[in-house]
Amino acid sequence: MMDKKAFRIAVFPGDGIGPEVVREALKCLAAISETSGISFQTREGLIGGAATDACGMPLPESSLALARASDAVLLGAVGGPKWEALPYDLRPERALLGLREKLGLFANLRPVIAHADLIDASPLKTHIVQDIDLMIVRELTGDAYFGKPRGIRIEEGQRVGVNTILYTEEEIRRIAKVAFDLAMTRGRKLCSVDKANVLESTQLWRDVVTETGREYPDVSLSHMYVDNCAMQLIRNPAQFDVIVTTNMFGDILSDEASMLTGSIGMLPSASLGERAALYEPIHGSAPDIAGRDLANPLGMILSVAMMLRISFGMQAEGKRIEEAVRSVLKEGLRTRDIHQDGKNQVGTTAMGEGVVKHLRALLTR
Ligand code: IPM
Ligand code: MG
Repeated sequence: MMDKKAFRIAVFPGDGIGPEVVREALKCLAAISETSGISFQTREGLIGGAATDACGMPLPESSLALARASDAVLLGAVGGPKWEALPYDLRPERALLGLREKLGLFANLRPVIAHADLIDASPLKTHIVQDIDLMIVRELTGDAYFGKPRGIRIEEGQRVGVNTILYTEEEIRRIAKVAFDLAMTRGRKLCSVDKANVLESTQLWRDVVTETGREYPDVSLSHMYVDNCAMQLIRNPAQFDVIVTTNMFGDILSDEASMLTGSIGMLPSASLGERAALYEPIHGSAPDIAGRDLANPLGMILSVAMMLRISFGMQAEGKRIEEAVRSVLKEGLRTRDIHQDGKNQVGTTAMGEGVVKHLRALLTR
């Protein structure tokens, strides 16, 4: 008998709607495993508020060890009002930032694709969001997120809050390379977003991206200030192919760009380092709808597709998941966030099972 391949996946459901969307994503993975003969060894770990509740810290050593011993990490979401009053070090968000830092996940890929069947779910006009297919490459381990000094201190009798935006040229070069390489596989257009008119750190960003671009003569490189980019994403998003930007700007612009697709619940992401890789939807834990079978699992399911393609080289299977998502939308199933009149509003589980049904059909075709 031939050896079955087994990919090791660390699964961190986390908080809020995390566990619900992860459950549906794992059903898709099971369907792939059954038909492909490739097995996935999934091991679950605690992270975020769930970990703080269980063992007093958001990123326990055992979870970090599990992530390190895996070929890829799948993560639902972290955070919630229950933990908001805790000191920074104990907050659920620290787990995510800790994983990014400790695993060296410096490149965050956030594809923004407008599905034809969801065009009307976007608050923007159809002609603006039609055929949108752009990729935001967000630097993920630098900027004010990690720069020091940081904190709140007392100076001359009043509280002063400090964060530091810091980028080394090496950090900029490596994310620029990821973005240029990606642009080469797509429309060969890269827009680097900064605030070089005000921030020295991003003047360096602009300089280093320009230097790196000399190694990629086939990619047309442009630069844009972040405030203008925020406007252009709404005015004419079709002008973008790949956007590369800093950690903080990428955080903000990717939430904005998600609305081109109709809902933030639709967007997957991949966070990549030299070796490690983590896949998660870009939405948060949405505590207001948690546990009520209302969450949209498609961003999480599409994150599994990214994992199959990027970490496991399973292009065909990744594509099948994306096709299954398109089919379920075409069939008319909608979670509440993307619901429109005349469509069939369903819960998280029914949406997940709808995708699995189409996926099985596609896989055994
Ligand atoms: C994201 C999130 C995180 C971030 C939070 C939860 C720490 O908003 O992944 O975009 O700011 O990076
Ligand atoms: Mg964000």
